[in-house]
Amino acid sequence: MFSTILKIHSISVIIFFLIYFIKTLLLLSNANDKLEKFKSYTKILEMIVSVSFLLTGIYLITQIPEIKAMLIIKLILVFASIPLAVIAYKKRHKILALVSFMLIVTAYGLAEMSRTQKVSEEVADGKTLYETSCAMCHGADGKLGIAGASDLSITQLQQGEVVNIILNGKGGMQKVQMTEIQANAVAEYVLKNIKK
Ligand code: HEC
Repeated sequence: MFSTILKIHSISVIIFFLIYFIKTLLLLSNANDKLEKFKSYTKILEMIVSVSFLLTGIYLITQIPEIKAMLIIKLILVFASIPLAVIAYKKRHKILALVSFMLIVTAYGLAEMSRTQKVSEEVADGKTLYETSCAMCHGADGKLGIAGASDLSITQLQQGEVVNIILNGKGGMQKVQMTEIQANAVAEYVLKNIKK
């Protein structure tokens, strides 16, 4: 459910953004006839897209556990740009159109930034990394022992030593391809959750 709504939201945002972009270009290049034509062609599409963009956006906000500052700034930018855009296109005011377009671009950029930030947090998630890179030999509980893999539930090593083994290998264990941040996240997970 959440991911479907998120998809609809993203698609609506992209279409909304494209219409907005073309309208701004036409206005700035004094192509008034084309602008009027484009506006009448896209009127219904724009209405549908704006409604779905807002409704899905509201739904997504209610699903987010904590509202971050970034999200509030994004919302303010989006809501400030809409009335500006309406006035700008009505009065054919280029500067206003440009300002409102820049506000939307900034909001879009912020949304992208917070998404990338989320992805990098996920990448350094020790549990997931352990499951994908270590569990096939060591097992989810550390005791599997495939190919002579040590029992991690009884390891006596410190976090730094575990990181070192992950990044450089040890005896029968080859080094595992990951960044130091990721290795630290896995090592922490091993010592906190696998070690008894
Ligand atoms: C291909 C199988 C394999 C994979 C994948 C693997 N290991 Fe190992 N691991 C081993 C083997 C084999 C040893 C025993 C090495 C030796 O002492 O010769 C070992 C030993 C270790 C040790 C030393 C334990 C001790 O107490 O001495 C740690 C810690 C460890 N692995 C952690 C990890 C972590 C964390 C991952 C995932 C990032 C991982 N391993 C992935 C096979 C594997």
